[in-house]
Amino acid sequence: MSDHGIPGRSAPDGSSVLAGLEAARRRTEWLTEIDEPELTAQHSPLMSPLVWDLAHIGQQEDLWLLRGGDAGAQGLLPAQIEKLYDAFEHPRASRVALPLLTPGEARAYLADVRGRVTDAIEHATDDDALFPYVMVEQHEQQHVETMFATHQLRSGAAVLDPREVLPAGRPVVSGARREGSVLVPGGPFVLGVDAVDEPWSLDNERPAHAAYLPAFRIGRVPVSNADWRRFIAAGGYDALHWWSAEGWAHRLEAGLERPLFWSADGSRRRFGVVEDIPPDEPVQHIGYHEAQAFAAWAGGRLPTEQEWEKACAWDPARGHRRRWPWGDSAWTPALANLGGGALRPAPVGAYPAGASAYGVEQLIGDVWEWTSSRFEPWPGFTRMLYSDCSAPFFGGDFRVLRGGSWAVGGASIRPSFRNWDLPVRRQIFSGLRLAWDVV
Ligand SMILES: [Fe+2]
Repeated sequence: MSDHGIPGRSAPDGSSVLAGLEAARRRTEWLTEIDEPELTAQHSPLMSPLVWDLAHIGQQEDLWLLRGGDAGAQGLLPAQIEKLYDAFEHPRASRVALPLLTPGEARAYLADVRGRVTDAIEHATDDDALFPYVMVEQHEQQHVETMFATHQLRSGAAVLDPREVLPAGRPVVSGARREGSVLVPGGPFVLGVDAVDEPWSLDNERPAHAAYLPAFRIGRVPVSNADWRRFIAAGGYDALHWWSAEGWAHRLEAGLERPLFWSADGSRRRFGVVEDIPPDEPVQHIGYHEAQAFAAWAGGRLPTEQEWEKACAWDPARGHRRRWPWGDSAWTPALANLGGGALRPAPVGAYPAGASAYGVEQLIGDVWEWTSSRFEPWPGFTRMLYSDCSAPFFGGDFRVLRGGSWAVGGASIRPSFRNWDLPVRRQIFSGLRLAWDVV
């Protein structure tokens, strides 16, 4: 354990890492074992055809685990085919026009790569040797979430059925009201993590470093659909004083009136099913500008990502970080909604046992939470093995989202995990939690 230490991590081994890779593959199969035209179609200009994601998952595994990241070395695909799966080379909207592998060819490629990876992992025995395997697992899990977003964007009848039932919510004070918030007293804490404690953390989560924040309040639960309906009913989308100048310009240009996938008649479309909007579910499919306007209307603000991470991971009584908000024990379905099986967020109040040391609930899973922070490196940042993972995105027009969504795989989220996206993005499973100043 380092000075900043997080107790309780068990030593990883090849078989547990392989089990993680296999779990990611089962999720990939769930989302891609559908009719071929659904796999090859472009369902939205925002997204790749699903068959591109599928082969790209194999290509990254081939590159990082069979060739050590050396793109000049020969992989299992001919070089001119492999190039089609370079995410930096081909924007998403153009990928449908490429001579991509067929679904059958893509599945055979993934199986071939995975067979060779399974043989190779026997020789990986410590954190450093196992890191690329878990990095590739996280990559696959992130594409599974992207593929969930593609499924949500596609029109037509449902092709996915829920596989899990979520716990019920419980009555809690609305996350839009200060009375329902908890106090996080001012003081020092540790922001970020070190590899020694969180060996699968990505470069942008490191290093652990001392930070200080003044006192603030933060919502015990995320903002719900019922809260959002009140914002709409109060004319929130038409009141420019709640919006930033940039946000209002975007609201007008994009014609925003309600979250993506909501209809004016009070229903929503979710994975091919039209249904009533459940009032107690955390709101999702909102952009940063809407989140900021909602927060202003509610008399609060968005938390910074530093505030979010302190409320999630810091244990003030013991003076160290927890691995998870609830403590150091591993995630179970009783503690947070991850994995995607229910195809939706859980109602607010569903996870009292998952609360952080400060009593904040549903920080992990359910919906990504917009923060007010731009994506910048922590002091002492150094690039990792996949050196373009984060660094090219620092300083851009991104905002940080925290905590993961219901669609995230269990190995791909941590209290220190930092996601980023453009303020206008709404196809992601994004919601919000409010914060308030303490004066
Ligand atoms: Fe990727």
